[in-house]
Amino acid sequence: MTMEETLIDKTREFVIERLKNSESGHDWLHIERVFQNALQLCQNIACDRTLVLITVLLHDLNDSKFNAGREDEILVEIKAFLQKNGLSKTRIEAVETIIQTMSFRHSFEAQTEKSIEFQIVQDADRLDAIGAVGIARAFSYGGYKGRLFYADDQASTQHQSSASYQNSKAATINHFYEKLLLLKDQMNTAQAKKLAENRHQFMLQFLAQFEAEKTGKA
Ligand code: ADP
Ligand code: NI
Repeated sequence: MTMEETLIDKTREFVIERLKNSESGHDWLHIERVFQNALQLCQNIACDRTLVLITVLLHDLNDSKFNAGREDEILVEIKAFLQKNGLSKTRIEAVETIIQTMSFRHSFEAQTEKSIEFQIVQDADRLDAIGAVGIARAFSYGGYKGRLFYADDQASTQHQSSASYQNSKAATINHFYEKLLLLKDQMNTAQAKKLAENRHQFMLQFLAQFEAEKTGKA
């Protein structure tokens, strides 16, 4: 095993342990799917593959939705782990930049230029937010938060700020209009754009069928 493969394996162990009791949409299986997506994207793009894979494994550990108030503490723990396992300072900084700024809520802020590794990790994660899996994840998170499936008296909001997006308590169907249907056009790499297209169409089909069943038309 090369040093880099050992680091990936160790990171995997570090993450599995910490995601034991997580919500189904943000659990180890999510990380595994994003890992597969990233491997696929890496095949055709010149990049620091190890950096991409390590960042994918770590990317949700300090998600503020599940770790409010502990985000910084977890980040310190992640950096100490990487340092202990011999990752260079520059690469640790790169991991930090990606996990701290790649999430959708940051897309409302001014964007600095994204490295290719950043672009791949973000696309790999966003692909898992759309399509059939994306639908499952949205309803899982909605259930976890006690949200309604839909609320006909509630219009969807086109959020203009991170705060407005994060404070939304909207029904899960609204989340499709507030985020999931927007992701296709926010993909960075050509390959992810193509994969996103199919998944996007599937969500549209789902939403049309949902509406038809709800109103007795199907
Ligand atoms: P990001 O980190 O890019 O902001 P999130 O972690 O907020 O993304 O979202 C990941 C997934 O969690 C979403 O793609 C969706 O499946 C689910 N999710 C997040 N917020 C909501 C919500 N308000 N309603 C339904 N699902 C949600
Ligand atoms: Ni994620």
